[in-house]
Amino acid sequence: VEIIVEEEQGDESQEFLQHLPTEIGMGGNLLYLYQGFWCPQVSIKGMMLFQQHFKAQETDLILASIPKSGTTWLKALTYTIVNRSRHSLEKSPLLTNGPHGVVPFLEFDVSSRNQFQEQDKLPGPRIFGTHSPYTALPCSVKDSATKVVYVCRNPLDMFISYWKFSVNIPKENEEHLSLGDAFDKFCQGLHGYGPFWDHLLGYWKASLERPDKVLFLKYEDIKKNNVLYIKKLANFLGLPFSVEEEEQGLIEETSRLCSFESMKNHEATRTGTGPLGIPASAFLRKGKVGDSLNYLTPSMVSRVENLIQEKLQDSGLSF
Ligand code: A3P
Repeated sequence: VEIIVEEEQGDESQEFLQHLPTEIGMGGNLLYLYQGFWCPQVSIKGMMLFQQHFKAQETDLILASIPKSGTTWLKALTYTIVNRSRHSLEKSPLLTNGPHGVVPFLEFDVSSRNQFQEQDKLPGPRIFGTHSPYTALPCSVKDSATKVVYVCRNPLDMFISYWKFSVNIPKENEEHLSLGDAFDKFCQGLHGYGPFWDHLLGYWKASLERPDKVLFLKYEDIKKNNVLYIKKLANFLGLPFSVEEEEQGLIEETSRLCSFESMKNHEATRTGTGPLGIPASAFLRKGKVGDSLNYLTPSMVSRVENLIQEKLQDSGLSF
């Protein structure tokens, strides 16, 4: 069914939404089951607008993720790599505007047809973030040379990062779920853009089919070998570091500028806001691998491990 969503987000889309199944997700927020995924109420219309009105350009870069998987970090790294010849790292707009300011989300920040038309005028390469599943991306993204970088994270850490994030954000008319209740919902796939296994598999399969188009990254790998992955990312984007740049230490500088410790102190993080007016500091909590083990019982861990085993088996993807 073709539903036209306009900037006024009028009755037609409202009517359409009324027919979608809904559930309360692990963050206590309303989710709509849309095209096989649980889309949060705050972004469902934005996601439909994105699907209908976004016209990808060949030079566009799309950074995709499920929330709390390292989106903020990937945005910072990609923006820095792409813009390294435009300004010195000390004067990067990343410092003042923040990763979510320099790389907008397609579902949250560009939320009207007019805004998409305005975006068409921007010089390339344009960089955008999205939480949309691969199957829900507009054809102009999937069928063009537009490059897509996906970042994912061990689901246990992602869960804790998500739960902490939702508990720390003040919300009206939404309840905070206990860790145990939130965990049950997570295991049922009831979280923003979940189930996580389908989200992961969509991008994973696309990266196997078209490795020149979709780069699949893991948070833990980037953490472990930052320099290698910054190089990989730059190569994939078609912007490899020259020997001269390497000798000047530009890769290490990029790594430092975008490190958790450095970003936590950027002006944009200390004083700015991120998507939906959320304090930018909420997007940098601990930045550690394995923090979930401080919160989850062994039986919770094994429940997720079994789920991962069951859902990802034979895919070649593991955690
Ligand atoms: P924690 O809550 O475990 O600390 P997203 O950006 O997708 O919302 O993900 C947020 C998670 O990534 C948070 O994890 C956050 O601390 C971490 N993160 C943000 N910036 C980071 C950086 N520069 N380096 C490492 N981790 C980062």
